[in-house]
Amino acid sequence: MTVAPDPLVGKLPPLAQIGSALLADWTGIDLASTQPSEWERCTAERYPPWRRREWLIGRLTARAALGLHNGARAIDVELVPDRLSGAPLVRGLPEVWLSLSHTGDRVACAVAPAGCPVGIDMEVRGRCDAALARRILGPDETLPAGFGHTTLWTLKEAAYKAARGRWPSLRAYQVEWSADGPVVSVPAGLRLPGRTFEWGSTVVALVGHGADTTEFTLLAPGTAGTAPAEPNGPRP
Ligand SMILES: CC(C)(COP(=O)(O)OP(=O)(O)OC[C@H]1O[C@@H](n2cnc3c(N)ncnc32)[C@H](O)[C@@H]1OP(=O)(O)O)[C@@H](O)C(=O)NCCC(=O)NCCS
Repeated sequence: MTVAPDPLVGKLPPLAQIGSALLADWTGIDLASTQPSEWERCTAERYPPWRRREWLIGRLTARAALGLHNGARAIDVELVPDRLSGAPLVRGLPEVWLSLSHTGDRVACAVAPAGCPVGIDMEVRGRCDAALARRILGPDETLPAGFGHTTLWTLKEAAYKAARGRWPSLRAYQVEWSADGPVVSVPAGLRLPGRTFEWGSTVVALVGHGADTTEFTLLAPGTAGTAPAEPNGPRP
């Protein structure tokens, strides 16, 4: 499947899709070929250059994701941080919740109906070592043989985002490993499905809405790096 350039976003980068989440690799893409809204352009100007690009590609990816999954003409959407938690709020589209993650020039954006917790996180494979993993494991939690520390970390960060940062310690998000994939227990009794995927050199975790999917699709030909491994596959 090839996605046509989105007139609201401009030139689209290499894309991949996991259910209602969109992954975009903006590496090498000159943002002059994109079409941020006037609000995005002005807001981005306030950031230092590295964050300006990160912030902008996050918004452009979110708009593409909203367009793909809600058919929204999302030019008027403003993605603003919640003042208390920092979680993204979609101003102008209250029926939607979303979650964002950046790794370099790669952005992952998960979309969900409002009220459905959703969190996405992406990290370079191998970024989390055993020492860091020990700091985030709960008292009775273990990492099954063959599962990488980074997989655990991304799942917990995605759960943190799904809970909109309500419990700041990653130890509070306990991952259980069932045959159907990981399940994350969030304080207050919520249990959310989780799923992890390989996307080239990165590990992507989706928690909450849409995480029961096993589909990973490259949307633009020859673009998003190596073919993804099977979901939840063991990785160092
Ligand atoms: C906020 C946090 C989740 C960001 O994660 P990260 O891996 O540094 O960065 P990511 O690119 O994956 O995510 C950034 C996005 O998360 C979103 N975000 C920020 N705070 C959030 C919150 N409280 N809830 C949900 N989403 C949030 C924002 O959309 C942000 O992107 P934007 O600023 O461009 O809009 C992370 O810094 C954090 O605070 N984690 C808390 C847990 C912890 O202690 N981690 C360290 C373990 S040793």
